[in-house]
Amino acid sequence: MYQLTGKRILLGVTGGIAAYKAAVLLRLLQQHGAVVRVVMTRNACEFITPLTMQALSGKPVHTELLDLETESAMGHIDLARWADLVLIAPASANFIARYSNGFAEDLLSTLCLATSSPVMLAPAMNQQMWLNAATQENLKKIIARGIAVIGPAEGDQACGENGPGRMIEPEEIASLAAKSFETNILSGSRLLVTAGPTREAIDPVRFISNRSSGRMGYAVAMAAVEAGAEVSLISGPVNLSAPDRAELINVTSAAEMYSAVMQKISTTDIFISAAAVADYSLDTIAEQKIKKSSDSYELSLQKNPDILAEVAALNSAPFTVGFAAETENLELNAQTKLRSKKLDMIAANQVGEDLGFDSEMNALTVFWGAEHKQLQKASKTRLARTLITLIADQYNEKNINKTH
Ligand code: PMT
Repeated sequence: MYQLTGKRILLGVTGGIAAYKAAVLLRLLQQHGAVVRVVMTRNACEFITPLTMQALSGKPVHTELLDLETESAMGHIDLARWADLVLIAPASANFIARYSNGFAEDLLSTLCLATSSPVMLAPAMNQQMWLNAATQENLKKIIARGIAVIGPAEGDQACGENGPGRMIEPEEIASLAAKSFETNILSGSRLLVTAGPTREAIDPVRFISNRSSGRMGYAVAMAAVEAGAEVSLISGPVNLSAPDRAELINVTSAAEMYSAVMQKISTTDIFISAAAVADYSLDTIAEQKIKKSSDSYELSLQKNPDILAEVAALNSAPFTVGFAAETENLELNAQTKLRSKKLDMIAANQVGEDLGFDSEMNALTVFWGAEHKQLQKASKTRLARTLITLIADQYNEKNINKTH
């Protein structure tokens, strides 16, 4: 279940005897690398305590909508944005009824309305309640809105009856959650991503670098793996693990990144440049540690090659996607880069507090041709998935136009 690595799952637990299985599900999701936050309804707390879920998740459990303390720490809108997937297991008949009617009277139903992430429900209830026309109508409504409903299974029930309504087992829920991250929109294509900062050495112990953590590029690489692409990731120095199925090539300086990219580019269909590549490097790197001798010290820098622009200028250039990190005039600067570097697409991020560099969240405006799309603040994982969908659409369209 490699797809769960690093995914942020908001596990919603509603009232029903199957709530105790939510603890097993939580452990399973975590074992497969997901980061899980738990939201429980009041009825769920009658079946399993928030303390159990808190101890297992290592994070505060959220139960109340209007709670001053939790709202100031991580409010319901932040939670809704945080999640890559909202997974509700078990989902009771009462919850499904409220959700299908768009109620927002408690934390979990409010989150479901406020999130733009995919939502998945694992129903659990008495078989007659499941078969009841009201429940079936409610389910039809939410399925029509794109909500995934997984299960229920048939069999003996806690109430002594037998029939459909048992929550499917935690192992199956975790596996379906993992699969929900998988798309095949890029299968058969070869994708090259750069990520992280570069380091330009000054002497054996010092360097010039920037605050890129690599998260955005690694999230793009992961989303591309899930989209079925064959992925190579060229990474500057970061503290992240690469997706298992991606080929990882570690580099340090812009010059090393440049030659690693150029070695792979002839076998690349899509190139995505998410790295924060140093624009300049030292003319000469001192062989020994520079001694503190005078009050000021000047470094002489030379311009590095622009990897992205050189790739886009190749005769048989791949579909080329740049990033732009801006502190001002985001749109104008990004569009200028799109045109001057002759890119197929550019994803622009405004650098700011809790956005862009070294943050888990970001917000992007993606430009291509005369079009653009705004991707609101969300986790880099979720943004990367949307970006990969946009890239796949444009890449496929360009290929179709080429063959006609
Ligand atoms: O790594 P994170 O902490 O997750 O942060 C993500 C990010 C902010 C680094 C990422 O989203 C981002 O915006 N990366 C590009 C940052 C950048 O260097 O932007 P730029 O506007 O300076 O460069 C424009 C484009 O040219 C980029 O695609 C860059 O990779 C590329 N470039 C720049 C210079 C150079 N010498 N060669 C290049 O290929």
